Amino acid sequence: MTWKTSLSRLSTSFAFAALCLTFFYVASTLICKRKQVNLPPDPAPLPIIGNIHQLPPAEDLLRKRGNLYNSRPRLAVVGECFTKGMSSVLIPYGNQWRAHNRIFLSLLGGHLESKQLLFDLLAGSMDSREDESSEFEFSAHIHRLTCSVMSSLIYGRRLKSFDMEDVAKVDEHVKEFSHEGNRSETQLAEMFPVLNYLPSWLAPWKRRGDEIHAKTVDYFEKNVAIGKKNAPWNFTHQADRLRNGGALHDIYEMPNTEMAYFLGHMQGAGSETTTVILRLFVLACVLHPSKIQTAQHEIDRVVGMRLPSFDDASRLPHVNALINEFKPERWLESPDLPSYSFGLGRRFCPGKHLAQGTLFITISRLLWAYNITHASRGGHKVEVDPWVMVQGLAAPPLPFEAAFRVRSKRHREIIQSEWENAEKDLDKIISLS
Ligand code: HEM
Repeated sequence: MTWKTSLSRLSTSFAFAALCLTFFYVASTLICKRKQVNLPPDPAPLPIIGNIHQLPPAEDLLRKRGNLYNSRPRLAVVGECFTKGMSSVLIPYGNQWRAHNRIFLSLLGGHLESKQLLFDLLAGSMDSREDESSEFEFSAHIHRLTCSVMSSLIYGRRLKSFDMEDVAKVDEHVKEFSHEGNRSETQLAEMFPVLNYLPSWLAPWKRRGDEIHAKTVDYFEKNVAIGKKNAPWNFTHQADRLRNGGALHDIYEMPNTEMAYFLGHMQGAGSETTTVILRLFVLACVLHPSKIQTAQHEIDRVVGMRLPSFDDASRLPHVNALINEFKPERWLESPDLPSYSFGLGRRFCPGKHLAQGTLFITISRLLWAYNITHASRGGHKVEVDPWVMVQGLAAPPLPFEAAFRVRSKRHREIIQSEWENAEKDLDKIISLS
């Protein structure tokens, strides 16, 4: 931290920045390559106790003195050039953030509970027609599911197949954002924001920022038009009602483009994160079969031969513990352990309840339906490396293979009949809830 601060003081010097550019480019390229196969960076741990000593003060600062510490650092490239100050995740603490957060809480708090049926039915579409599926298939199915949950809620439109253009677009948006953010020159300009005063022809991140932003806004605005046409309820209507009904007027006048951005960004924030956790869950199944079997036995005992539902959640402690952490016994011994997976303080993740609902229904049904194990090729187990992760916003595991074996003929029949008989019309589902 101290070296970074003292370097920032010199940032007004262009000559220094130019020298740094060469050094930083070479260094960060080397570091990025090395990190590809290492764990993501974290604060330096102390011997034996690791980072535990940093938690109580962090909690104290973020919860009790949130006014001071819940803002975001200035991100000249990602926050200003790429997202033009409209990204809910990156905007600094203040009235604009309060307006974004007020919409989130209204959408994801009380309203959400009555919409869980929606996720239940969407999660039911995870039907595998084969006994086994490769990495590509399971990962793409998972991603379709999370994108479709978000798209249904935000725009009232299901994404029915993983090869639909919109699934690819959500992915492309998140990947592009992540890729651009990792470029050496982007990181240099984030470190020396004064470089943002350079004209566009000398600052490639500004040109790319304008292109990305224009493309993104165009896509988000098209989706808003779809959301407005779709009846009777979705986040687009809800956010519009809050904005036009005056619920935000006391703090912030949100322009149309920003509202489109807010909704589109929510789709990326909600689908990418949940996809990563579900892929990590599959990885845990492959690596720790005994822990998975304990949760499966619990489901068999409590649920029996039907799909698990949200009503079963309170009776499945092993499944809940598994979702919290892949060393689940800690949560069985102390169910009230503090958890920071969704952040803390005022910038706490507003999608927590939605994410937890999606994770519970998907994971409990996957465990009920399938044995998830190592893939095999030519009679040999395909090994997976648990530590190889991709650098980026959410640090997902690199693609890996897994085999999904349906647990019995009866399980297969139930999966098929549940899907065939499921109500698939979103308007009807919403009016039922
Ligand atoms: C398993 C899934 C998810 C995980 C692990 C996760 C985790 C996080 C974390 C750690 C933060 C930062 C909190 C902080 O700075 O203190 C965050 C922020 C955020 N998350 Fe999530 N999230 C998930 C799902 C979702 C979903 C489904 C949505 C949308 C419906 C969402 C929307 C957001 C937004 C908008 C922010 C920025 C909040 C702000 O800066 O005020 N997330 N999330």
